[in-house]
Amino acid sequence: MDNMELIMTRKSVRTFDGRPLTDEDREKLCAFISTINNPYSIPVEFVLLDAEENGLSSPVIQGEHLYIAGKVLKTEHCEEAFGYSFEQMVLYAWSLGIGTTWIGGTMKRELFEAAAQVKNGELMPIVSPLGYPAEEKSEVDVKLRTNVHGDERLPATEVFFQGDFSTPLQTEDKCLEAVRWAPTAANMQPCRVVKCGNKYHLYEKHMPGYKPGAPWDVQKIDLGIALCHLMCVTGGSCEIADPGIPCAEDTEYVATVTV
Ligand SMILES: Cc1cc2nc3c(=O)[nH]c(=O)nc-3n(C[C@H](O)[C@H](O)[C@H](O)COP(=O)(O)O)c2cc1C
Repeated sequence: MDNMELIMTRKSVRTFDGRPLTDEDREKLCAFISTINNPYSIPVEFVLLDAEENGLSSPVIQGEHLYIAGKVLKTEHCEEAFGYSFEQMVLYAWSLGIGTTWIGGTMKRELFEAAAQVKNGELMPIVSPLGYPAEEKSEVDVKLRTNVHGDERLPATEVFFQGDFSTPLQTEDKCLEAVRWAPTAANMQPCRVVKCGNKYHLYEKHMPGYKPGAPWDVQKIDLGIALCHLMCVTGGSCEIADPGIPCAEDTEYVATVTV
């Protein structure tokens, strides 16, 4: 599968078939993880955690034996960098047929942080189970997907704009489809894009509940994922260069991709 197919076929997997990862898949994943970088050059450390050994579980996950946690030093742009790097791991895992789910809330965070040995100054915003998808979803999986409308996304005209925020973009641009289908926390979809010629300007629309000064902004992680998708399918270059397009108070410029 190419990057576009990986992006369009990936879904959160919350029900696993109980098989542990094969040695071969585990080795491939570990080798890939050691090559991951992001446009911010902020290192993200990955730690594999045996579920049984560490007493780890999540109320929404079934049939898993292994988790992966991501750690990053708390610094400017660490959330976008984290989202970008973790999503590369997610897409590569999917290319091997390994299912994942971004988990930032539905877990006993202190248990995972202890197992991953999170140090002072480090953040561990997200963990994911790793395993092979079961043929049938558990009841809790089906309920959760229904509640967050996991199989749906906002229409392009609500999230993409041409030139400025007053002109909705009616588009079937494949690159923007890759952004639209990016996973986001609670499927809130905070990413907005203004397309100007060969530039895609990415913005974060702060959703209700946004807390400036919280240990991390989960929606900036979502923006990092969207950025990863756009970079994967365009092979463009990424910079922080605010074009100064007027935007609403709840909307914050994040990055620009030039193709
Ligand atoms: C940053 C982030 C945090 C998330 N946290 C959770 C979580 O705690 N529990 C959970 O079941 N899903 C979580 N998700 C998964 C989203 O609910 C899911 O990506 C979204 O509903 C879209 O569904 P899809 O991934 O199948 O496309 C999270 C996703 C992201 C990107």
